[in-house]
Amino acid sequence: MKLKPLVVANWKCNPTTLIEAKRLFNSAKRRLQKIKNIEVVICPPFIYLLNLKSENLNLKLGGQDCFWEEKGAFTSEISGQMLKDLGCHYVIVGHSERRRYFQETDEIINKKIKAAIATKLTPILCVGETAEEREKGETENVLKKQITLALENVSVANFQKSRLVVAYEPVWAIGSGNPCEAETAMSRGLLIRKIVAGLYSISLSRTLRILYGGSVNSKNAAGYLKEAKMQGLLVGGASLDAGEFIQIVKAAQSP
Ligand code: PGA
Repeated sequence: MKLKPLVVANWKCNPTTLIEAKRLFNSAKRRLQKIKNIEVVICPPFIYLLNLKSENLNLKLGGQDCFWEEKGAFTSEISGQMLKDLGCHYVIVGHSERRRYFQETDEIINKKIKAAIATKLTPILCVGETAEEREKGETENVLKKQITLALENVSVANFQKSRLVVAYEPVWAIGSGNPCEAETAMSRGLLIRKIVAGLYSISLSRTLRILYGGSVNSKNAAGYLKEAKMQGLLVGGASLDAGEFIQIVKAAQSP
């Protein structure tokens, strides 16, 4: 069975009140009821998860991060088990903001990927080069290193059950209003598939989806699916406006 396209909303540290979070979620949920042939995941701040419920099979919840241990004396951390218990199906791992502001290393990301899979959450692994790395022509090596280290000792049997999502998110495109050209995104998508396929010598067509993320909006969304042949999108800023977000989802819908 072919996997449906996937659109992930990363709300990041927004909105600041539960009332607004519920309003945004319910507005997206209501409009999604009529939309088929697509999977949508909303990743709100952890604290709102308990209050956001989806009865719609096309709309799932995800965490923006998870801790690698299941439980214990780790002040403030949230485990995959806790996310699962609150109804999450997905978890974002290794977002560039976590790497940059919270010093997440490839080693930490690897532990989180393993923890997510062990809890039967589908990890959404974020990878991408900075502007400086791009200028130095290091993109290919950066992607190879991030993916190889994130998936170190992760057996294919593991993620065949939970599936795997890799989001190509060039750091320079995130929140900048300067999205990656569809043609470039396509070559990065092919490269990512090749890197993952090189680690596991099986067909990944039913296991792996590659998303594009970085200044996605309702005008450029379709290009990433149709021209760049991505299997979905990771949307930050534009997911905070339910109307705009639904336009993006519609643009990504399979025919
Ligand atoms: P953006 O964020 O859509 O606001 O650029 C994307 C992301 O960080 O996932």
